[in-house]
Amino acid sequence: MFDTDIYVARRKGLAARLEKGVALFPGNGEVGMNYSANSYHFRQDSNFLYYFGIDRPDLVALADLDEGTSWLFGDDASIEDIVWTGPQPSIAEWAARAGIEHTAPLADLEGFLAKARQADRPIHFLPPYRAETVVSLHQWLGIPLAEVKGRASVPLVRAVVDQRAHKGPEEVAEMERALAITGQMHLAVMRAARAGMKEALLAGMARGIAIAAQGEIAYPVILTTQGQILHNHHHHRTLKEGQLVLGDFGAETWRHYAGDITRTFPVSARFDARQRDIYQIVLDAEVQAIQRVQPGVPYRDVHLFAARIIARGLKDLGLMQGDVDEAVAAGAHALFFPHGLGHMIGLDVHDMEGLGEDYVGYDDEIRRSEQFGTAYLRLGRRLEPGFVLTVEPGIYFIPELVELWGKDRRHEAFINYAEVEKWLDFTGVRIEDNVLVTETGHRVLGSPIPKTIEEVEALRAEASGK
Ligand code: GLY
Ligand code: MN
Ligand code: MN
Repeated sequence: MFDTDIYVARRKGLAARLEKGVALFPGNGEVGMNYSANSYHFRQDSNFLYYFGIDRPDLVALADLDEGTSWLFGDDASIEDIVWTGPQPSIAEWAARAGIEHTAPLADLEGFLAKARQADRPIHFLPPYRAETVVSLHQWLGIPLAEVKGRASVPLVRAVVDQRAHKGPEEVAEMERALAITGQMHLAVMRAARAGMKEALLAGMARGIAIAAQGEIAYPVILTTQGQILHNHHHHRTLKEGQLVLGDFGAETWRHYAGDITRTFPVSARFDARQRDIYQIVLDAEVQAIQRVQPGVPYRDVHLFAARIIARGLKDLGLMQGDVDEAVAAGAHALFFPHGLGHMIGLDVHDMEGLGEDYVGYDDEIRRSEQFGTAYLRLGRRLEPGFVLTVEPGIYFIPELVELWGKDRRHEAFINYAEVEKWLDFTGVRIEDNVLVTETGHRVLGSPIPKTIEEVEALRAEASGK
């Protein structure tokens, strides 16, 4: 946990943004994997962590906006619990650490909420993403099951997004910790990779480093020689000379802040000529996009700027053709760069995605595009100091997508299909860093991880003794 006053200040900030009523935050419980006692890794709800900080299952907290106080509902460990899981801090001790004024057993929650409903006080809750929470809200509030998600409070969503989007110094420091561990994970993989190794060995090594640092991975490891499959979570292939390895993975610290870094490197000591060409375009797009990150700039424009660098580079290689600006306006670049430039990051790797991406990444001024490719951009709005976001351009040759577009010669004015056909076995390159928007510009978080062609090749040559 952070210091008590941080949670008190966050809840004060929430109360100042909402008019009245109760803001209800159900914490997460354990979820059985194959039977209830054999549970998945426990992960507390990020909003619960943000306002109350308590990292244990089976709690419900609420902010009484009219009284200006908070409540923690939960049950102290019984002697049976202690026999199996050891002694635990009491509910009162947890509440004191989080600066929460009132505690009560979980059984009292329903009565508290019934009283609030009788008094016609609004009860705000966030969109639930676990079935267990949907059922609980149904039981506590008498909302029909099918209507629970739709009854989430938009004012509460907006208030939470406004607060969580602007990272405090304690959060930035924690994200630096996540990135220090993430950097170790990437360096270890880049040093260890050899032809003949299974992807799984490297993926396990990365995860082991996160766990050894008392954290976890922030999302399932992507470590693949098939980088054109954007979220490829399979690790069954064997590395071969001449291939590229795309590693997209990051640590979550024990305080649950995420890192999200991608590096792409050759299995051999050096990139081959085609790999160098594509890698350099992606690197140019990434580095120049980062340079554009500053307050007031719509991130949608940074995305389109990176797309133009990619289209220009591909035109120089004879893969695209025609006017670059027109190609990007038409969406032709999305054959090679079919995802967004980045997203906010914090307690969640795609920060606050559970609250609704459009509340997080868009506003009345900047609406989500409906065009294939740019539609996947999770963050389009103007940047503000305190935002932390990813910059992650990529170029991919996705045979299935080329086949689909090629059938009806889609964007033929901008795509040289005869040339693209020769590159179908290329796979993909992505490079990703995490960037803080400052008052005057930006700061790339974490220590540098080899990224230029020279740096990557030097590390690979050193590692393989070549
Ligand atoms: N690791 C998933 C992403 O980069 O968005
Ligand atoms: Mn990533
Ligand atoms: Mn990312």
